[in-house]
Amino acid sequence: MKSLGNIIQEKPWLGWAIFLATMLVVFLLGVFTYTIVERRTEAQFTQIRTTDLDSLEPRAEAWGRYFPRQFGTYAQMADTSFRSKHLGSQRRDLLQENPQFVILFAGYAFSRDYNLSRGHTYSIQDVRASLRTGAPMNPGDGPMPATCWTCKSPDVARVMEEHGPDGFYSMMLSETGAEVVNPINCASCHDPETMTLRITLPALAETYDRLGINIEEASHQEMRNLTCAQCHVEYYFGENNYLTFPWDNGTTAEEMAEYYDNMGFADWIHPLSKAPMIKAQHPDYEVFMQGIHYQRGVSCADCHMPYKSEGGVKFTDHRIQSPLNNISNSCQTCHRESEQELIRNVIDRQDMVKEVRVKLEEILVEVHLTAEYAWNMGATDDQMRDALHLVRHAQWRWDYAAATHGGSFHAPLELTRTIGDGLDLAHRAHREIMQVLFELGHTGPVPLPDVSSKQLAQAYLGIDLEDWRARKDVFLDEVVPQWLSEAAARHDRWDELRNDPEFEGRYIFED
Ligand code: HEC
Ligand code: HEC
Ligand code: HEC
Ligand code: HEC
Repeated sequence: MKSLGNIIQEKPWLGWAIFLATMLVVFLLGVFTYTIVERRTEAQFTQIRTTDLDSLEPRAEAWGRYFPRQFGTYAQMADTSFRSKHLGSQRRDLLQENPQFVILFAGYAFSRDYNLSRGHTYSIQDVRASLRTGAPMNPGDGPMPATCWTCKSPDVARVMEEHGPDGFYSMMLSETGAEVVNPINCASCHDPETMTLRITLPALAETYDRLGINIEEASHQEMRNLTCAQCHVEYYFGENNYLTFPWDNGTTAEEMAEYYDNMGFADWIHPLSKAPMIKAQHPDYEVFMQGIHYQRGVSCADCHMPYKSEGGVKFTDHRIQSPLNNISNSCQTCHRESEQELIRNVIDRQDMVKEVRVKLEEILVEVHLTAEYAWNMGATDDQMRDALHLVRHAQWRWDYAAATHGGSFHAPLELTRTIGDGLDLAHRAHREIMQVLFELGHTGPVPLPDVSSKQLAQAYLGIDLEDWRARKDVFLDEVVPQWLSEAAARHDRWDELRNDPEFEGRYIFED
């Protein structure tokens, strides 16, 4: 066998041929790599483009034609199979799982029906189906005002364009059922002209205005929180059901309670204890701000809308869900620990917060029932006043911690502190009421009813769930289909206008 060196010595042209062939391969590889890199960059940039959609186009499918990847992941929210130890997307009956809630919410619609949320694509369906919204058979029927729709649909901003926010809030939910039909989607967070993030619902911007902060100047990372803070916050219905955030004194439980005390506000009077109660909604953003991730500049979208790669294209995963269903993209971009370890970290914190939260629930139930007993024994307003103020504050602390379903991970220390404060207030309330009973000459133990299951607790309050369900079924069968057909006709009209070659305007909704 001759060596390659010998062959080349005999035929020098072969050496040149090998050299040139190698150069060619290197050159082609270079071109190939360059194309891949360019394609990727191109892919990242071409996603950010403008659309010619109406500014408040409320139909996700219309946006989906421009952005199939974001729409595709958004549509995956229809899958409600995931369940974590405490949360997830399954419909879970929170009253069945926590019968104490029935007594705590006595006299308020949450004592009838309270389910865990399933995801943004269900926002409209779940409002219609909830027993809390009753069965309004005619436009204008109660019980709920249109304000309830506010954080459920991009149609709300569209209707507000026409009627103004106060016009919208002063209508009833039943008057706007045919207008508000599209669940939370693209228009809630994006401007279709630039696809940048935007705020469409007025309450958040109005609050910042009052606080002297210009929301237009929020940083990009803060916008990745603020789009969520349009809805995932504590709020109340003010005059004419005007949606308002109680942030003027701050956003901890104490600071918001002070705001409510100063205005003498109560959501309802508890029928057992007669305490003037405040219902916490879902102070997710407020609680998140007290946690380490917010303080290190991590945003809601980092964990709930992480980046995802598909065929070299990097985009934002629009399936907003429990991050425990997506640890690798949601957490492991920053943390090196294993998936199991991270899940354990989350569940440990949730378990610990729940351990003290349940203690507060139990004492609060006892306080309401003991107060009821004291009233039945002839207690007077004067005797009970201080105790009831303590009950109001103790339960507000509890609800602040319980209603923010992600809070025991978002800011576990702050919630434990808040619940600890609630425990102190509840025990003081209990002591006060026992003192009243003592003054009334009652010294024995207080006989308390058995309210240890959802059924027993609702029976004790006289809630007839079957009746509520039967009326709800009639509403769902008769009223909702009318709303849907009206909405479909409106959507068809827009499409016709759009396809009309004569049509030149941009804002078809004003028609
Ligand atoms: C327009 C109001 C609105 C906006 C904006 C909004 N949400 Fe929601 N969100 C809701 C409502 C309402 C639900 C409950 C829907 C249901 O289950 O019927 C919900 C549910 C959720 C859930 C529970 C999902 C599940 O699987 O159980 C998560 C997580 C969530 N939102 C996170 C976010 C994040 C993060 C943002 C910002 C990127 C955001 N939301 C923006 C109103 C909103
Ligand atoms: C709850 C708010 C929210 C909703 C609803 C929403 N997005 Fe997004 N979207 C975001 C956030 C946050 C980002 C990340 C933007 C950033 O950091 O610049 C984003 C990014 C995008 C981008 C930029 C490219 C990318 O993937 O990062 C596009 C395009 C987009 N969304 C399209 C849509 C479409 C289409 C819909 C409806 C199917 C939709 N979005 C619904 C919050 C939302
Ligand atoms: C964008 C980066 C980022 C992402 C995404 C992120 N984290 Fe973190 N995480 C941090 C930082 C920063 C800290 C604070 C640690 C420090 O500064 O030393 C932290 C702290 C923690 C801590 C300790 C908190 C405590 O109570 O002391 C836990 C647990 C944790 N993260 C879990 C998670 C989990 C689970 C996820 C996904 C759901 C996640 N993180 C997603 C950056 C991130
Ligand atoms: C560091 C990661 C991280 C950040 C940042 C974060 N969350 Fe979460 N969130 C979680 C985890 C983990 C859970 C618990 C999920 C579980 O137990 O299944 C959760 C739970 C939730 C839930 C309840 C979900 C359900 O299934 O019912 C909501 C709603 C929510 N977060 C909203 C938000 C909002 C709004 C923000 C920003 C203000 C935010 N989160 C910021 C990690 C995060």
